[in-house]
Amino acid sequence: MTETRKVIVVGAGIMGAGIAQVCAQAGLQVFFNDIDEQALGKALERIVWSLGKLAAAGRLSEEKETILSRIRLFPDLSVAVEADIAIEAVYERLDLKQNIFRVIDQSCGPRTILASNTSAIPITELASVTRRPDKVVGLHFFNPVAMIQVVEVIKGIETSENTMQASIDFVTTLGKEAIRVESDIPGFLLNRINLVSYVEAIRLVEQGLAKIPEIDKGVRLAFGRKQGPFETGDMVGLDVSYGALMAIYEESKDPRFYPPQLLRRKVKAGYLGRKTGKGWYDYDAGGNRKLDLA
Ligand SMILES: NC(=O)c1ccc[n+]([C@@H]2O[C@H](COP(=O)([O-])OP(=O)(O)OC[C@H]3O[C@@H](n4cnc5c(N)ncnc54)[C@H](O)[C@@H]3O)[C@@H](O)[C@H]2O)c1
Repeated sequence: MTETRKVIVVGAGIMGAGIAQVCAQAGLQVFFNDIDEQALGKALERIVWSLGKLAAAGRLSEEKETILSRIRLFPDLSVAVEADIAIEAVYERLDLKQNIFRVIDQSCGPRTILASNTSAIPITELASVTRRPDKVVGLHFFNPVAMIQVVEVIKGIETSENTMQASIDFVTTLGKEAIRVESDIPGFLLNRINLVSYVEAIRLVEQGLAKIPEIDKGVRLAFGRKQGPFETGDMVGLDVSYGALMAIYEESKDPRFYPPQLLRRKVKAGYLGRKTGKGWYDYDAGGNRKLDLA
C-alpha cells in the first residue's frame, strides 16, 4: 500500500476544514492553506469543536492536542513541499481552481498527486493546466467530512491507473470507503442519484400533490434514511444544490437536472436553508427547526 505522510489542503471552508481534520486524525501531516487568514482561524475553531465532540463520544484514539499539532498553517502555496497529495477545496469556480492547480503543479515535486474536491467541474479541465495530467484526480468528500464514510475517486481522461490506486489507498488510510468513478461526468455518481430524487420531490410539491414534511417523513420511514430530501436540501444549502443542478444541466442538457421553478425562486429570495434561517423549513437563531408550516 502506498503510504501518505504529507498532505497539502488548499481552502479552509466547510470541506477543507473537514478534510484537514480527517487527515490529521489519520496521522498525516497537514499543510493548510487559505487566501483568507480569518477563514483559517475559523476552520481551526471548527476542527477543535469537532474533535472535542468526537473525544466526548469516545471516538478518538489519541489526545485532541496531538491531532491538532499535525496541522500547520501554510500561507504560501508556491513554497515547495514534498507532499504525497495536495487536495484543493476552494470555491466552485473553474478559473480559481485552475490557477491553484497551475501553482501547485510548479511547487510540488513530480510524485505529488493533485486532487480536487470539486462537486461538478470536470477533472480533465483541471488536469489540462498542469504538466502531470496523469497524476490529477477527483476526491469528492461529503459534508460533514468527519462523519460521512464515503469518498468518490474520479478519473479524468488522462488519470493513470497508478494514481487511481494510490488515491483509493489514501482514502482507505483515512478510514473511509472509496467509490471509483470511471469518468468525470458532472455530478459524478452519488450526487446525480440524489439530485434526481430531490428534483422529483420538489416537482411533487409544486404540483400540490404533497406537503414538504409529508414527503420527508415518508422517505425517512420507507427508505431508512436519516433525513428526507428537503431536510438534506436545507443542510446542504439550496444554492449549492441549484449550482450543482445547473452545472450538470449545462453540460448534459438532460432535463431531469433542470432546477425546478420553486427551487429557483427560493434561491433568488435568499432562502438558502439552515445557513440563512429559511429554506424549505424555518429555523430559529439556535438553528432549531420551527414548527412545520411548510
Ligand atoms: N459544501 C458541501 O457540502 C460540499 C460537498 C462536496 C464538495 N464540495 C466542493 O468543495 C469545494 C469547497 O466547498 P466549501 O463548501 O468548503 O466552500 P467554502 O465556501 O466553505 O470555502 C471555500 C474556501 O476557499 C477559500 N479560497 C478561495 N480562494 C482561494 C485561493 N485562491 N486560495 C486558497 N483558498 C481560497 C475561501 O477563502 C474559503 O475559505 C467546492 O468545490 C464545492 O463544490 C462542497
